[in-house]
Amino acid sequence: MAIEQSKLYPRVKSGIPGFDEMVAGGFHKGTVNTITGPSGSGKTVFASQFIYEGTKSGDKGMIITPSESSDFLKREMSASFGWDFSSLEKEKKVSIIDVTDPVLRLQKSIDADPVEFLVNFRKLVERKLEEEKPNRLFIDDLMAFFTAVESPFKIRSLTDDLFDSLRKNGLTSVITIGTAFGMNQILEYGADSATVLNRERIGNVMIRSIYIMKMRGSKIANTIRVLDISEEGMSVSSLSPYP
Ligand SMILES: Nc1ncnc2c1ncn2[C@@H]1O[C@H](COP(=O)(O)OP(=O)(O)O)[C@@H](O)[C@H]1O
Ligand SMILES: [Mg+2]
Repeated sequence: MAIEQSKLYPRVKSGIPGFDEMVAGGFHKGTVNTITGPSGSGKTVFASQFIYEGTKSGDKGMIITPSESSDFLKREMSASFGWDFSSLEKEKKVSIIDVTDPVLRLQKSIDADPVEFLVNFRKLVERKLEEEKPNRLFIDDLMAFFTAVESPFKIRSLTDDLFDSLRKNGLTSVITIGTAFGMNQILEYGADSATVLNRERIGNVMIRSIYIMKMRGSKIANTIRVLDISEEGMSVSSLSPYP
């Protein structure tokens, strides 16, 4: 008798209309999921919506921002979509951690050893997860941490350590990765699912697009789809950019 797949691998709804249909129901609970794409392709919006929509069904969220300050993210999401992360923070539904906060003493600097920094970063994340016990985690622009580490092998093993720490206690993580430095493939390799955002030129119009590169243990849509962003947030259209 076939065991029902949804019982073996519970799914977590992404909160992005149209996305869950592409991955047979959502992210697998307790996994690490990457969102890759060039600047402005919608990575931060995707992951912010994942956290924001999660709070509506009682999922506690955590956002870790290494590159831009968290204030910047909060202001942008509020201005673009009316998502009030400051209030959610006060209500303890979301905790937002800015690793450039001097209190955390995790300063990125030219002098700091990048490997040591990454090891300390993982320890910080482990501590915060233990303290706050979120159900959903969003790390914005993980690549920003790795640009100073020269060896791809080092990146691979540092990422594996970090991802192993995240796959605990049923936490579901979404991690955004920029493509500017060409090392995104190393991180995608270690993740449980990889989604790619892009811009396509159709005639003289630019259209946002999305496809699923992989999801371990799941059926995935094998088509590129149009990705829409409006005042209501992000959604995946059933259309392809290339009809
Ligand atoms: N209300 C809105 N309607 C349409 N587009 C929007 C709206 N708010 C923001 N955007 C667009 O969404 C994009 C945000 O992308 P972002 O997630 O920050 O990209 P990334 O993190 O990949 O660099 C910007 O290009 C911005 O112009
Ligand atoms: Mg971003």
